[in-house]
Amino acid sequence: MKFFIDTANLAQIKEANDLGVLDGVTTNPSLMAKEGIKGQEAVYNHYKTICEIVLNGDISAEVVSTDFDGIVAEGKKLAAIHPNIVVKVPMIKDGVKALKWFSDNGIRTNCTLIFSAGQAILAAKAGAKYVSPFIGRIDDSGWDGVALIEQIARIYSIQGYDTEILAASIRSPLHIIKCAEAGADVCTCPLESILGLLKHPLTDIGLAKFMEDAKKFS
Ligand code: E4P
Repeated sequence: MKFFIDTANLAQIKEANDLGVLDGVTTNPSLMAKEGIKGQEAVYNHYKTICEIVLNGDISAEVVSTDFDGIVAEGKKLAAIHPNIVVKVPMIKDGVKALKWFSDNGIRTNCTLIFSAGQAILAAKAGAKYVSPFIGRIDDSGWDGVALIEQIARIYSIQGYDTEILAASIRSPLHIIKCAEAGADVCTCPLESILGLLKHPLTDIGLAKFMEDAKKFS
């Protein structure tokens, strides 16, 4: 399973990248707004900077248009920023049409705001490179996000779809583990969930004892 970080914060992206386990970055309009970036030029420069930090990683940049012509025009501009940009398109009717257009024209896409298996089938049929089921938001509303990952993984395997399942809206290290178990191809996570995977009290206790004993022979 690939690891993406789900943020537009450059310090966090650098920290995750320095760990050596990062395969890409996802952003969305809310994450960009959180960083206080304003204006199209600043937004595009920010994406370029992210691409220059995470070399060889896929960087999702989301369109903010909702009509076919607008999504295509915007997606073309985003894709021109850097070869590693993946155009993020919402799961709406014009979005599906745009996914097909991008696929026919060699532009890779990430279909976002996926909350059902039906939506994941449509995105795969339209040629999306990634689909992003929002598992945390599903859990928040009393449904089972990981079960959706399992269902999509089963369908894609039976049908032979190439689209990769990008588990999004991750809330905890346990979500990451469950997504790996459920067959997600990618997990996009907040930095704290990635770092949370490091933690185990027995590791800390074991290391403290090793360090204590090391003093006896050093
Ligand atoms: C990623 O592609 C999504 O935009 C993101 O994971 C949404 O996460 P949230 O539910 O924490 O906002």
